[in-house]
Amino acid sequence: MPIIIDGKKTANEIKIELTQEVNQLKEKDITPQLALLLVGNDPASEIYVSNKHKFCNDIGVASIIEKLPNNTTEKEILDRISIWNNDKNIDGILVQLPLPKNINETKILLSINPNKDVDGFHPENIGKLVAGLPGYIPCTPLGIYELLKRYNIDTSAKHIVVLGRSNIVGKPIANLLVQKTKYANAIVTLCHSAAKNITDFTLSADIIIAAMGVPELIKKQHIKDGAVIIDVGINSIADATKQKGYRLVGDVDYNDVLDKVSAITPVPGGVGPMTIAMLLKNTIQSAKNKM
Ligand code: GUN
Repeated sequence: MPIIIDGKKTANEIKIELTQEVNQLKEKDITPQLALLLVGNDPASEIYVSNKHKFCNDIGVASIIEKLPNNTTEKEILDRISIWNNDKNIDGILVQLPLPKNINETKILLSINPNKDVDGFHPENIGKLVAGLPGYIPCTPLGIYELLKRYNIDTSAKHIVVLGRSNIVGKPIANLLVQKTKYANAIVTLCHSAAKNITDFTLSADIIIAAMGVPELIKKQHIKDGAVIIDVGINSIADATKQKGYRLVGDVDYNDVLDKVSAITPVPGGVGPMTIAMLLKNTIQSAKNKM
């Protein structure tokens, strides 16, 4: 039987560890604080932001949510970030993505103080990641790294194929796992939609990190025996047998590959729960950096 990498359980363990860290900080009169900005009314973003707010509350981190309407101007967003950048009590700033189409996302991300950029999306933090310097690492890649570490999955000299070149997952996880460090040191291939035939790459992969956002694309014929599957996809597909009329699936066809893999993350309950845990890890780190 393959190892089922349980992100929900691991995130709960991390939650307990983070609560202890927050309590220790509070003894020194430091309460970490995260500021969350939500622009517009995308239902998925609203759920993500309220989940982040709730996680903060559960572990004793202070958090504020600023909700701005869909027609907010770029200047109004920049003004809000500027206030938070200059507020000594705020350790982390998160602007929920995607932003409305009329807003220049890059300009907004560039305006966040890199020392408070707990999402790790500022080019200064991305540059540090690429150069192997300490900085904030984006939360989903950090969550994957933490799962590999806690499940003791050896990555050194292994061939890892990352599918998908997003700035949030694909590019940063490839850069993280190629570093000459423990639980990295991998031979990484970053594969994307321009690949004519992904099996040319995936069949030689010891570990596949699927983050292309295509429901159940990866089947057993794409992978080699004993591969480790890290599935970052969260896709909703119609399912009349469910009360809600849909179900969530990953980018990998879980049931199809299950008897061929050595370890796999389920969807939901795999990588997903780790993202928020890592956001709070980064926020607490930012508060510690002030000491
Ligand atoms: N939208 C989807 N994932 C993320 C994330 O990790 N951070 C932010 N800010 N927005 C997102």
